[in-house]
Amino acid sequence: MILGILFIGCAKEKEVTTVVPPESSAYVGSEACRVCHAEIFTAYIETGHHSALSAAGNIAPSYPDSVANPPANPPSGYTWNQISYVVGGFAWKANFVDADGFMVTGTGAQWNYDAQDWADYHSNVTPGTESFDCGQCHATGYDAAGNQGDLEGIDGTWAENGVGCEACHGAGAMHVENPRDNMMQINESSSLCGECHYRDANYRIEAENGLIKHNQQYSELKSARHGNILCVTCHNPHMSTAYDAGGLTADCSQCHDMTVNHAGPDDCVNCHMPYSVLSAESSGSGIHLRGDMRSHIFAINTDTGQGQFYPDGANMYSEGFNGLNFACLSSCHSSRDLAWAESNAGSIHP
Ligand code: HEC
Ligand code: HEC
Ligand code: HEC
Ligand code: HEC
Ligand code: HEC
Ligand code: HEC
Ligand code: HEC
Repeated sequence: MILGILFIGCAKEKEVTTVVPPESSAYVGSEACRVCHAEIFTAYIETGHHSALSAAGNIAPSYPDSVANPPANPPSGYTWNQISYVVGGFAWKANFVDADGFMVTGTGAQWNYDAQDWADYHSNVTPGTESFDCGQCHATGYDAAGNQGDLEGIDGTWAENGVGCEACHGAGAMHVENPRDNMMQINESSSLCGECHYRDANYRIEAENGLIKHNQQYSELKSARHGNILCVTCHNPHMSTAYDAGGLTADCSQCHDMTVNHAGPDDCVNCHMPYSVLSAESSGSGIHLRGDMRSHIFAINTDTGQGQFYPDGANMYSEGFNGLNFACLSSCHSSRDLAWAESNAGSIHP
């Protein structure tokens, strides 16, 4: 597949550059990119992508220094050599996979990062019965056939633990062999990120118990007028957002010229990216209920008569807006009510 033909200098010197078609190359792992892309590699190993899945077995997996509270021990009743993998543990929570490849479930099976405490994970599921089916988003080069390491509890196989360079750029063997003739693919579209940062096939925003479920940034972004803004306009894909401000590359004023008439903090994200998303732990209740991740919907609906969440069958979904409960009350104005919020919201941008 020849995507680009470059003519350099006079017409006789023709350089043909082939973008490696993913299926024609083999996976080599992120470590193989280090020698030539050292700067990107050094930033990348500090990201959650790198820590999305870690092998355990005998010892705790290692995390970058910025991760202050990784799980130091496996769940109660397990030793490290009874754990094959740790899922996450980077910024919000960690789940554990047992030596046969099944999820560790039950009371105290999940490590919650902020609380530095154990929480329940699928507490009504008998330990040793729930398959690990997370590889398509937490690993690189996923193949639904087979069982990684021949562990019967694991669905599928993969080439590298975590979201490696090749999860976004395609398999790298041909490029590593001959970089200039075999260029890696670069995909700047949000749909690349959306391959993992979503839940519902129709990109509806799944919700539960009054909060948006995590890992749906793509669906959230598409739900309102930011639908055409790229993830990589605001995020450097090689740097962590959770731990390094350098991972955030765009500020809102680059595109918006808004006057903010607010006596308190006026950082746009406080109101437009409220904590309406739940990964590990919520706090408060009712109109002050708060999740632990910021939402990516951006729109605020000042009409408190319109609910943000709606049911469809047994499931709950979110509309493409944030209610004033999240925008105003859940993180900041904890003693106010919706009527107060509604009477003030309209005058923030005069
Ligand atoms: C032997 C050195 C070498 C290794 C190893 C290597 N690269 Fe490269 N890579 C290059 C060179 C040289 C370029 C071209 C740079 C340029 O022309 O500016 C490049 C370019 C790229 C580009 C940009 C392509 C474009 O269209 O601009 C990407 C993405 C990339 N490499 C990813 C990777 C990944 C992922 C790995 C590991 C699987 C890797 N590289 C391993 C040398 C290497
Ligand atoms: C989460 C997806 C993702 C991962 C993981 C990732 N990249 Fe990239 N990379 C991108 C995107 C998207 C671009 C396009 C540049 C942009 O818009 O920021 C890019 C650009 C590049 C480029 C060319 C531009 C530049 O910044 O020099 C190189 C080289 C590159 N990546 C190498 C790597 C290597 C090496 C790794 C692993 C150490 C890696 N990438 C991991 C998504 C990713
Ligand atoms: C459709 C893709 C997808 C699947 C399938 C998936 N995840 Fe994730 N997961 C993500 C993304 C994306 C994030 C990070 C963004 C977020 O949480 O909003 C994440 C975050 C996490 C975190 C928090 C990471 C941290 O460092 O704090 C844990 C733990 C986790 N997932 C566990 C699992 C487990 C266990 C499974 C399988 C039962 C699973 N995930 C299946 C995409 C997925
Ligand atoms: C192959 C699946 C996959 C793809 C593709 C992917 N992500 Fe992720 N992403 C994850 C998972 C899984 C996590 C959670 C990892 C963890 O925290 O342990 C995550 C975490 C993150 C985080 C939070 C962690 C941090 O280091 O700050 C950001 C930000 C992020 N992704 C942005 C992006 C962007 C932007 C893209 C597209 C350029 C993208 N992701 C593509 C799976 C993916
Ligand atoms: C308009 C800018 C913007 C766009 C577009 C955007 N993000 Fe974000 N993103 C942010 C900001 C700001 C944060 C919050 C950082 C913080 O909490 O300080 C964030 C946080 C995150 C986080 C959680 C990390 C954390 O530290 O809480 C993930 C994961 C993430 N973004 C993924 C994505 C993905 C995937 C896309 C595209 C589908 C995307 N973002 C598009 C601005 C943006
Ligand atoms: C790359 C340019 C760009 C950046 C960066 C950007 N926006 Fe936007 N934003 C837009 C565009 C374009 C629209 C749609 C305007 C329209 O349709 O009239 C929009 C719409 C909005 C809306 C209205 C949403 C709706 O659905 O009604 C809000 C609120 C908003 N942006 C807030 C923010 C915040 C907060 C940030 C920073 C975290 C930000 N924007 C960063 C370009 C941007
Ligand atoms: C104190 C909370 C707060 C802060 C801070 C804030 N906004 Fe808003 N913003 C709102 C509310 C509430 C609305 C809805 C107001 C309405 O519809 O009258 C809104 C509406 C908007 C809209 C949509 C306007 C339209 O016509 O649809 C944009 C765009 C926007 N804000 C951008 C920003 C940007 C950029 C920043 C940072 C410079 C910012 N906001 C800071 C609360 C805030």
